[in-house]
Amino acid sequence: MTTYPPTTIVIFGASGDLTHRKLIPALYNLYHKGRLPEELTIVGFARRPWDDAYFRDQLLEGVQTFSGGSYDEQVWARFAPKIHYFQGDLPTAEDYSRLAATLNALESVPANRLYYLATAPSFFEPVIAHLGAAGLAQESMEAGTPWRHVVIEKPFGTDLASAQRLNQFVHTVFSEPQIYRIDHYLGKETSQNILFFRFANTIFEPVWNRRYVDNVQITVAESVDVGHRGSYYDKAGVLRDMFQNHLLQLLSLVAMEPPASFQADAVRNEKIKLFSAIRPIQAADTVVAQYDGYKETEEVDSNSRTPTYAALKLQIDNWRWKGVPFYLRSGKAMNRKTTEVIIEFQKPPHLMFGISGASEFSPNMISLCIQPDEGIYLKFQAKTPGSDEDMRSVNMQFQYQDAFQGDPLPDAYERLLEEAIQADASLFTRSDGIEAAWRLIDPVIQLWENEPISGPLATYEPGSWGPLQAEGLLSQDGRTWRAGCGRIKSGVSLKVKP
Ligand code: BG6
Repeated sequence: MTTYPPTTIVIFGASGDLTHRKLIPALYNLYHKGRLPEELTIVGFARRPWDDAYFRDQLLEGVQTFSGGSYDEQVWARFAPKIHYFQGDLPTAEDYSRLAATLNALESVPANRLYYLATAPSFFEPVIAHLGAAGLAQESMEAGTPWRHVVIEKPFGTDLASAQRLNQFVHTVFSEPQIYRIDHYLGKETSQNILFFRFANTIFEPVWNRRYVDNVQITVAESVDVGHRGSYYDKAGVLRDMFQNHLLQLLSLVAMEPPASFQADAVRNEKIKLFSAIRPIQAADTVVAQYDGYKETEEVDSNSRTPTYAALKLQIDNWRWKGVPFYLRSGKAMNRKTTEVIIEFQKPPHLMFGISGASEFSPNMISLCIQPDEGIYLKFQAKTPGSDEDMRSVNMQFQYQDAFQGDPLPDAYERLLEEAIQADASLFTRSDGIEAAWRLIDPVIQLWENEPISGPLATYEPGSWGPLQAEGLLSQDGRTWRAGCGRIKSGVSLKVKP
């Protein structure tokens, strides 16, 4: 058992999907691995008239289904009694004084408290206000006394102005070091590995810049469509749902300068520097589209202009990246689920082999495969054995599954909850980070939500790689979207001219 201080986790919105599918299975797995405090209390706050036993039964089903096959009856029997149900109404002030009394009664010793807002965003402000009014956010100034932290789920605002307002509001109750804004992409092992790949090795960083890199591509493609989330999604769209958070966070890991340490603020300062160096995105560098059939989705406006796909070209005006385009794309109902970052290197300055079809020559590429084919590929040219005529692109590959046999990769929420329990905020976004990301994406949203300026929305076929216009975004620069992940790629063979 790791020796963490006594901790209480209060989950607001405890009857919802996130608690059932992600939070409790992640906490159960952490407990199973001995990575939670022994003095642990979990309190689920929700409105339904449930009791502890019923709540635990509900959660058990979630653990059995979503804990990645680690369910063990005996472990659950030890874990379940730590979970309690508190029937309360999120907007009702008195329920928070009752909550305070309940927490004091449940904690045998003074404990750190982590308030997890797994609610709809409209409840963020009331819950925070009531926590403040009930004295539940108050920390003692004395060193070594328990902390009070709050985890806030996405979406954090719907545009720059609302994110700024929300930050200001949260700061009336919690100070910045008490606030943990979550982005689950930062909890993925493969995302975190980007910094290790770049900065725990000496051979990649020297070429990770404008002198060697031709362009960088970040693809977050999902095969699922909007499904039953129409009412949320139609107001959000892909730019709010994926770009403002997940894609920009991936971009920051790929492009930021090395922080001097792995301390939360050192890492977050570098991200801010990077975001501030990104040039405002111009209309010509954006493509948005909607998949055919989206408008027929339940709870989606039949005239909806909400984009389910977007591709952006970003330019970073600093010494490392000046002139290297970063192409980002993400969409629903695409060909397959894949999250990948491709670093495409420049072609050799001179090819002495005189190959035919030099335009097909495949440059070196590093593919950072975030999911589901977790690993890294390095693509290079090799001479085809037994022939002095052919060369072919081949891959060196690293696969988590092969290299770290045994445990499956932990879910992102496991990593993030453990970090939050340890009060380490490096994987969480600071207020200026959230606002910097909105500052970049908000103008693109405004542009496309403003019909007279932008004209009709492009469409794409479900199961495709997106609209034709997205090909144009790269082809006008003489480039093409690359697919780098998916086990063992066969390369393009090139004939050397006789
Ligand atoms: C969420 C978005 O933040 O991320 C969803 O709201 C999206 O629309 C999901 O499907 C993707 O997460 P993952 O981990 O499955 O890539």
